[in-house]
Amino acid sequence: MKNKKRVLVTGGAGYIGSHTVIELLNAGYEVTAIDTLERSEIRIVEGVKSITGMDFDFQKIDCLDEAAMEQLFSSNQFDSVIHFAAYKSVNESVEKPLLYYKNNIGSLMVLLEVMKRYQVHDLIFSSSCTVYGQPDQIPVDESAPFKRAESPYGATKQLCERILEDMATEGIRVVSLRYFNPIGAHPSGIIGELPIGVPNNLVPYVTQTAAGVRAQLTVFGNDYNTPDGSCLRDFIHVCDVASAHVKAIQFLEAKSSDKIFETFNLGTGVGVSVLELVKKFIEVTGVTLQYKIGPRRPGDVEKVYANPQKISTAFGWNARYDLGQSLAHAWQWEKRIRGIQ
Ligand code: UFG
Repeated sequence: MKNKKRVLVTGGAGYIGSHTVIELLNAGYEVTAIDTLERSEIRIVEGVKSITGMDFDFQKIDCLDEAAMEQLFSSNQFDSVIHFAAYKSVNESVEKPLLYYKNNIGSLMVLLEVMKRYQVHDLIFSSSCTVYGQPDQIPVDESAPFKRAESPYGATKQLCERILEDMATEGIRVVSLRYFNPIGAHPSGIIGELPIGVPNNLVPYVTQTAAGVRAQLTVFGNDYNTPDGSCLRDFIHVCDVASAHVKAIQFLEAKSSDKIFETFNLGTGVGVSVLELVKKFIEVTGVTLQYKIGPRRPGDVEKVYANPQKISTAFGWNARYDLGQSLAHAWQWEKRIRGIQ
């Protein structure tokens, strides 16, 4: 008799995917994780197994590969799917829009086809606060309108949400989680983010600079309309992001309706400036960090942070880690991959 529910995690070797697999295993789910390993490494999968002391099914599969996805669904009975598999670099998406539309939209199309064919109804989608652009009101709540996306990456998230909203009539029940700025790493220091090349995102740039891989951090702009002039973001620990996915699955499991499309902000509700983050990093790690103020980065939103009321009420979810812990964990991970004591 089947008593454990099985979740398919696409992009399961990725940054948020791998941390979510840990939360799922710890919550008693059986997991099948798939990933191309194009932008991650098998050591992350092994790290998840060593952290949890549990085994799970990992397969090197591309969601765009229809035959492989068909085979996967025909040989497994999934109760739900968490779809992380997507490209996520804003800069790269501006340079290679077709790559982004093809991968991020195409993989969702294939996934929805097989879910429909094999009558798997429940889907958690990996969305982003980028769907809001620069909101008129902050903290931003889920009712804020979408502004024109600043990048093809943002456009794929907007479009995927629209597609999923329409899928309600096809019997696919969806929770879309709009992440703010996920940072940090697993407290064990065994897994974390593996940025490719020069990081675009703030925290990997900070930790690589502290580790001596980069000479200096540039803070992009100190003339914004914010208390210290640098941009304001809602930084959230990746394990808090991960735990919300388990709650999202349980939220769908508890619903009997066959038409569900719900969006939730996934942030802490606290706006932190880039300069505040830099100072906090120095404070919690005791490391010196070379940084300078540079010009604004084109396309950056001045300030955005979440109103997390909806997710807190619906899931009983709240962030467990604060900024200092998130940065300490990010630094611990960076030291591990660089072999720093
Ligand atoms: N920043 C710097 N220096 C850097 C890197 C970043 O000052 O070297 C600043 C940025 O200007 C911004 C803030 O740090 O003000 C955060 O920048 P990130 O690149 O870390 O993140 P974004 O807020 O730009 O978010 C983007 C997308 C999200 C996506 C996220 C993670 O908008 O959708 O990257 O990939 F989820």
